[in-house]
Amino acid sequence: MTTSDALVSVADFRSDTVTAPTPAMREAMAQAKVGDDVFDEDPTVHELQALGAERLGQEAALFLPSGTMANVVAIALQARRGDEVLLEEASHPYLFEGGGTAWIVGAQPRPIPSDRGRISPETVLEYIRPLNDHFPRTTLLCVENSHNMHGGTVVPLTRMRELRTVCDEHGLKLHLDGARLFNAAHAAGEPVKAFAEVADTVSISLAKGLGGPVGSLLAGSRAAITEARRIRKVLGGGMRQAGVIAAAGLVALREGPTWLGEDHRRAHDFAAGIREIAEHFDIEERLEAAEPETNMVFVRLPYDEEAYTPIVEALAAQQVRVIALPGRGMRFVFHHQITDEHVRRALDAIRDAVAKNLRA
Ligand SMILES: Cc1ncc(COP(=O)(O)O)c(C=O)c1O
Repeated sequence: MTTSDALVSVADFRSDTVTAPTPAMREAMAQAKVGDDVFDEDPTVHELQALGAERLGQEAALFLPSGTMANVVAIALQARRGDEVLLEEASHPYLFEGGGTAWIVGAQPRPIPSDRGRISPETVLEYIRPLNDHFPRTTLLCVENSHNMHGGTVVPLTRMRELRTVCDEHGLKLHLDGARLFNAAHAAGEPVKAFAEVADTVSISLAKGLGGPVGSLLAGSRAAITEARRIRKVLGGGMRQAGVIAAAGLVALREGPTWLGEDHRRAHDFAAGIREIAEHFDIEERLEAAEPETNMVFVRLPYDEEAYTPIVEALAAQQVRVIALPGRGMRFVFHHQITDEHVRRALDAIRDAVAKNLRA
């Protein structure tokens, strides 16, 4: 059994980052034309960056090793030391990127509330500091779309445009953390470009819903991306024969968007299955799964955090991997290596675990 066979046979719902490269990706990697990308001479990286810029409707794009680096580069580009950066309070750069905004950029992150990731223009207005020597300057708004910790929720295009207007009126730049922007756009039935064009900078992950093994793209104006390249170098993100991984990224960018519909359909089927289980055991108050907007389902057992442990363990015994996130529930993330059989297996394991652990 190869590593990828082993990965596929386990139903791994922990994240959409766990996918193994497809045979087409491996083949592209083996055949990739490469050069030294720190000398800006890697033709495959150039091709990926050009395709990314085109898909995102921006002048230029830069290949980076991770979404975390893409976010911190975008923030460093658009906020100075001592500036204030508005970040949704459960957003990835605020919660999960090691405090890079403060640590690396030296800007002050200000968490702002939202309705499940959908920041309102009124909230942004409320949080923009007046111009006064006492206050930090508010220079950047970051929007995450789809929103991971709110369960893969989508910030609609109309809302994105309203946020753009507020930013323009108050001199703020807008960074779109679109690690899963293709999922959001697919769910919204809008072109990815339409979302990306709203932002000054936009990052997308090649290694999440799109299924590639490594890397992100950051896109923006040519001037912004020239500067981003310099910041990436400072952070140690200049990669030499990066065409080897960019080749897989190209396959992900071309093919990945085509399988998102099935991922979202499976997420929907799974959530419906959870609601059936809750109904069957008459525990709708205690076992919940909101209808997913994209590729994530958070299964909540709201009455008791500790109730997750036996269920997570029972699932693991059935080769179903999942993580429990404190306060949010068990997160099931759908990706192209999750099959209908995996969905059935997960539901069967949850039904058994519920029968054993919750009924009493
Ligand atoms: C919304 C969002 N942004 C950024 C990142 C960071 O990406 P990476 O893991 O490639 O650093 C993640 C990772 O899960 C994410 O969910």
